[in-house]
Amino acid sequence: MTTATPSRLLNTSEVRRLAAADVFKGIFVVNSLIKKTDKNGRPYWEIVVSDTFGNINAKIWSDAGWWDRSTTELENKPDMLSESQITDLRGRTVGITGRVSDYRGQLQFSFNAISLLNQNKYQPSGYVAHSDVPRHELEEGLDAMIGRCGEPIRSFLERVFSGDRREAFIEAPAAVSNHHAYASGLLEHTLMVTESARSIAAAYRDVYQSMDMDIVTAGALLHDLGKIESYAMSPMPEMTLAGAVLDHIALGYAACDRLAEEAGLPEAVRRHIGHIMLSHHGQKEFGSPVLPATPEALVVSAADELDFRLFCWKDATRDLAANQNISAYHFAAQRRFWKVSPNREDSGEG
Ligand SMILES: [Fe+2]
Ligand SMILES: [Fe+2]
Repeated sequence: MTTATPSRLLNTSEVRRLAAADVFKGIFVVNSLIKKTDKNGRPYWEIVVSDTFGNINAKIWSDAGWWDRSTTELENKPDMLSESQITDLRGRTVGITGRVSDYRGQLQFSFNAISLLNQNKYQPSGYVAHSDVPRHELEEGLDAMIGRCGEPIRSFLERVFSGDRREAFIEAPAAVSNHHAYASGLLEHTLMVTESARSIAAAYRDVYQSMDMDIVTAGALLHDLGKIESYAMSPMPEMTLAGAVLDHIALGYAACDRLAEEAGLPEAVRRHIGHIMLSHHGQKEFGSPVLPATPEALVVSAADELDFRLFCWKDATRDLAANQNISAYHFAAQRRFWKVSPNREDSGEG
């Protein structure tokens, strides 16, 4: 079916903007690869690959070629990959040729050749997505937020964000998929939530005089602390065993409560921060065992949800063509997103 040969290597962002019947080639890292069986009993694979520009979800049908180019020179014919080599492709760099098709009105990507590359020459770590915000800006942002707190919370936060824990927090992704699923995504998300929560809290502070800005700041900075134990970069973001069976809410609460006890944080402060950590998902069906019950907890939970949804909007509308204004259905956010034309006179229809 392929009618043209792609002329140059494309990144994932360029591939996502192709149209039906286009073909492409690129170098990516395999995030996940799941073997399935179609209704005729033939095997196919669902694959997610990524580079520093993001991810592509694709299908690999049973007629695709799997090649080992990890040791062969380009001019030589490569060997086929064995079944065990295919199973072992996760986290490895591969060369891909693929095509775009239209499946029930949605673009679908399929890969027709997958080549394992020389992993020393094409190191997987070079294809891992990273926050756009430079590390020094993220660190300055974290220290500035801590510096806005008074004692005893300031010293407590300095203790939490120090040493190996600080390094792990700076490097961690905020998720395996859906939002900020890249290196330093957790700190990028945390700083946005903290900034946003402080702004909302400041707006309500005069009305609800009990609003404690230090508690809001600490709760926002710590709300996803458990993600440093829930996710690992290897080299792509992946769920750890502890993350799968204990979840970041329980892990974060346990770690924070232990650190608060070691630091001698007053009981009332320790309990309030613990409440924010346990309630931050806002609803029991989203993993929180208790619902936000204080103004500070309500503010952190709202800021967390807002940052998640705004990220989903950015992600869903990023690659829309100039004549498109409605995104594909976004499953995590359960909606299509709308990219309003910057020109207010333009209805965006047509
Ligand atoms: Fe969370
Ligand atoms: Fe969060």
